[in-house]
Amino acid sequence: MSLITSPESILHIALDAMDRTADPRLRTLISSLTKHLHEFILENQLSESEFERALQFIVGLGQATGKNTNEVVLAADILGLSSLVSTMNNLDASGASFAALLGPFWRANAPICAWGDDISRTNLGGQAMEVRGCILDESGKPISGATVDVWQSSPLGFYENQDQSQDEMNLRGRFETNAEGKFFFKTIRPAGYPVPTNGPCGELLRAQDRHPNRPAHIHFMISKSGYKVLITQVFDGTDENLLSDPVFGVSEHLVGSFTRDAVTGVCHLIHNFVLQSGEMRFPAPPIP
Ligand code: BEZ
Ligand code: FE
Repeated sequence: MSLITSPESILHIALDAMDRTADPRLRTLISSLTKHLHEFILENQLSESEFERALQFIVGLGQATGKNTNEVVLAADILGLSSLVSTMNNLDASGASFAALLGPFWRANAPICAWGDDISRTNLGGQAMEVRGCILDESGKPISGATVDVWQSSPLGFYENQDQSQDEMNLRGRFETNAEGKFFFKTIRPAGYPVPTNGPCGELLRAQDRHPNRPAHIHFMISKSGYKVLITQVFDGTDENLLSDPVFGVSEHLVGSFTRDAVTGVCHLIHNFVLQSGEMRFPAPPIP
């Protein structure tokens, strides 16, 4: 190891020290990250107080993470990193992605439901909604027996675990596609909602003059053995925040047609999804 001769020399010394990392992927990733961070600090001539503030921000993310919220995931979301990872890793042959970020509110083990069940288990008022769709493989063939795990906010914009007035697992459910690859469930129309703003991420959004309001959406996690797990969201195409999602989740394929029937008052959504062949691997739940 050589001695430091200038600010720039520290990077080379640090990279040399990391060279013995046995795992080649870990070596590549940490070395690359280190290089970009050194370049960022040099390029912006980071002051000592700015560096301290950045470290405090990261400590704050951990401290604000708890049973019902994951501020670390939220930080990745509001920087566009979660959307980048999910979009980049789920491109189809034409370069399109049906995937979107997981978000902090997915819970494993949502109730198993039957065809047409209503996932609205607490009476919250709001607009009745019916959601239908078909799960297809890349050649357009329907996939039967796929699990369609759905979760959404209430008409007031709260997930069940953020809201004492909702029953456990309200507005969450797992459905199975039928022989034609189709699913169908009833629910209530979700509202848009602000991402949590009481932690360091909220402070950053305010400093950047960005609003925290996500456009209304329903989350889907679709799985079947032999296919990559598709994690995605379908957005209400009429929402005023469609083009200013604070977590950058809205891509072309994910704008849904939430259509209210003038006679019955029921809102309908029909949306199909394509699964890619691959390993079925579930994410770690951001909250228990
Ligand atoms: C969500 O869609 O549930 C979500 C995503 C990112 C941040 C907060 C919430
Ligand atoms: Fe959400």
